[in-house]
Amino acid sequence: MEAQEFNEILREKTRMTERIIKSFLPEEAGYQKTVIEAMNYSMNAGGKRLRPLLMEETFLFCGGREEDMPLLEPFMAAIEMIHTYSLVHDDLPAMDNDEYRRGKKTTWSVYGEALGILAGDGLLNLAFETALQSLEFCSGAAREYLTTAPSPEYHLQRLTAALGILAGKAGIYGMIGGQTADIEAEEQEGSLEKEQLLFIHAHKTAALIQAAMMIGAVIAGMAEEEPLEQIGKCAYNIGIAFQIQDDILDVTGNSAELGKPVGSDAQNHKQTYVTVNGLEQSMKETEDLTNEAIAILDSMEGKNDFLKELLLSLVHRRK
Ligand code: IPE
Ligand code: IPE
Ligand code: MG
Ligand code: MG
Ligand code: MG
Repeated sequence: MEAQEFNEILREKTRMTERIIKSFLPEEAGYQKTVIEAMNYSMNAGGKRLRPLLMEETFLFCGGREEDMPLLEPFMAAIEMIHTYSLVHDDLPAMDNDEYRRGKKTTWSVYGEALGILAGDGLLNLAFETALQSLEFCSGAAREYLTTAPSPEYHLQRLTAALGILAGKAGIYGMIGGQTADIEAEEQEGSLEKEQLLFIHAHKTAALIQAAMMIGAVIAGMAEEEPLEQIGKCAYNIGIAFQIQDDILDVTGNSAELGKPVGSDAQNHKQTYVTVNGLEQSMKETEDLTNEAIAILDSMEGKNDFLKELLLSLVHRRK
């Protein structure tokens, strides 16, 4: 695929993803209006929308059908809500203390710290309320489809599995666990163990990438443990590579392009892949991990050239 063609398709797919996400955002009304405004502010600020994109592309890789899109869309919005909440909290003064995100002032710096905390909380809950909307599709909205598809139980099984992945990968054995280890490591004297750094990256970042890709696979109908594990491994590699590249960009990036500050890690005395392993080694690992991820996809039955291009494009991304 030519770079220009890829970029055009990516732009169009990102636009469609934005539309899906926005259709699930709450109306700004009532006495709780301010928190909803803060939530929508962070959700509408932009961003690459990588996780919902990966979810949909993995769904397509696994043979997901057009008729199943109404089941997938609530999960696409939900994963972006959870990711955005993780950023809203990550930027708080008590955590990374950052004032710019997605090219705009961070949520806490516009609405205050209390609202920053509440907006994050609100997005986390809203993510599950949104994902649960796919159950409505199961029970009533598309009876015609249900009569031609395998069985209502089949839908329920897929949705329950997807909800379990979302809850687990976002929680203490996933993103929250990683953020905890990340924040604690700032106080640590002496160099981080390679294993410790990998734990942090695997949990704070790879976990949500795994959720995105695994949910795409599950909604497409992948029920067997073995291929789902392969998707999980592929996403793990991509997630680690993604965080290494994020660490690289914190040193070599440009804040106008990134939409967030560079040098935030150094300011927080954060040990990253770059401080522990050096720039060159970090760049090499990003490439190796991505190639491994693509080799996993190549060993599987599915097909999706755009997905592979998307994964490759992340290696040299500048934002
Ligand atoms: C930033 O994620 C936080 C990390 C996990 C490195 P993204 O780089 O995907 O941020 P957005 O969504 O594009 O703003
Ligand atoms: C954050 O990692 C990962 C999250 C779970 C939010 P970083 O702290 O490096 O992310 P950025 O650089 O602020 O986007
Ligand atoms: Mg952080
Ligand atoms: Mg941060
Ligand atoms: Mg970073």
